[in-house]
Amino acid sequence: MPITTSAEMFKKAYEGKYAIGAFNVNNLEIIQGITEAAKELNAPLILQVSAGARKYAKHVYLMKLIEAAVLDTGLPICVHLDHGDDFEICKSCIDGGFTSVMIDGSKHSFEDNIKLTSEVVKYAHDRGVVVEGELGKLAGIEDDVNVSEEDAAFTRPEEVEEFVKRTGVDSLAIAIGTSHGAYKFKPGQTPHLRFDILEDITKRLPNFPIVLHGASSVVPEYVKIINEYGGSMPDAIGIPEDMLRQAARSAVCKINIDSDLRLGMTAGIREHMAKHPDHFDPRQYLAPGRDNIRTLVKHKIKEVLGCDGKA
Ligand code: G3H
Ligand code: 13P
Ligand code: ZN
Repeated sequence: MPITTSAEMFKKAYEGKYAIGAFNVNNLEIIQGITEAAKELNAPLILQVSAGARKYAKHVYLMKLIEAAVLDTGLPICVHLDHGDDFEICKSCIDGGFTSVMIDGSKHSFEDNIKLTSEVVKYAHDRGVVVEGELGKLAGIEDDVNVSEEDAAFTRPEEVEEFVKRTGVDSLAIAIGTSHGAYKFKPGQTPHLRFDILEDITKRLPNFPIVLHGASSVVPEYVKIINEYGGSMPDAIGIPEDMLRQAARSAVCKINIDSDLRLGMTAGIREHMAKHPDHFDPRQYLAPGRDNIRTLVKHKIKEVLGCDGKA
């Protein structure tokens, strides 16, 4: 099984009322933790790479590690550019073997977003690559994008048909109250997603795959471990799992998770180093980080996304 696009995955996910996990990857241990979990549960996967991840690890290293994971697991795996900022990075990823790219034109005006997204779609489709666009702005911090809560804006359902029709995108990321990073809601705030907006969008775009960014639950056990072993993270509230399950049963076919992986990796390393302060072989402390990622991803696949057994 070679690296695949997400087209077939999304078709099956839409019909089967489940979602595919799109997990951010930066290094060997993260890729192994995720793909070993998916292998155990026979789940399809999207591995996504941000601009920051490409800068950190280099495109070719991540590509070759993912190719190795495909060989090792035999799973359908889609390699996706997360939050492509401009045409050039999308082109570079397409030319470098990615099967899917996101062009995130959400910071532009509606017309400029359409223009930029259409250019990427043309280049991608001519080469068999699929494209995710975005309408609406999520709050939170990404590598180069910092959208304040005041600037965040829900997707306007009345814009989605025109956007999809004029750009030709294959999937659409929407803003319904999720946000990036580990601090999505303040203590005391009740997490709330605008399922009414999702429903309206689904009516206007029948059989069309929707993408949810900023979908980490900010696993409390990992925050607790980090703080128990020397960390000082403030209380953090993420997206409750029942809301994610509800989304996965709807038109949402792709759910993006990064922060929970970071917390799992860090909790594993901190706990190990605190218990074995004299260890200095990186394999000794990276392995518990990888174990946490495997456990976390198995939980997401089975209990949240519902894509176990669907590879
Ligand atoms: O949404 C962004 C992802 O969490 C990637 O984060 O840009 O820091 O790699 P990054
Ligand atoms: P989290 O920060 O909630 O994990 O979201 C990740 C994401 O949306 C990557 O594009
Ligand atoms: Zn995102």
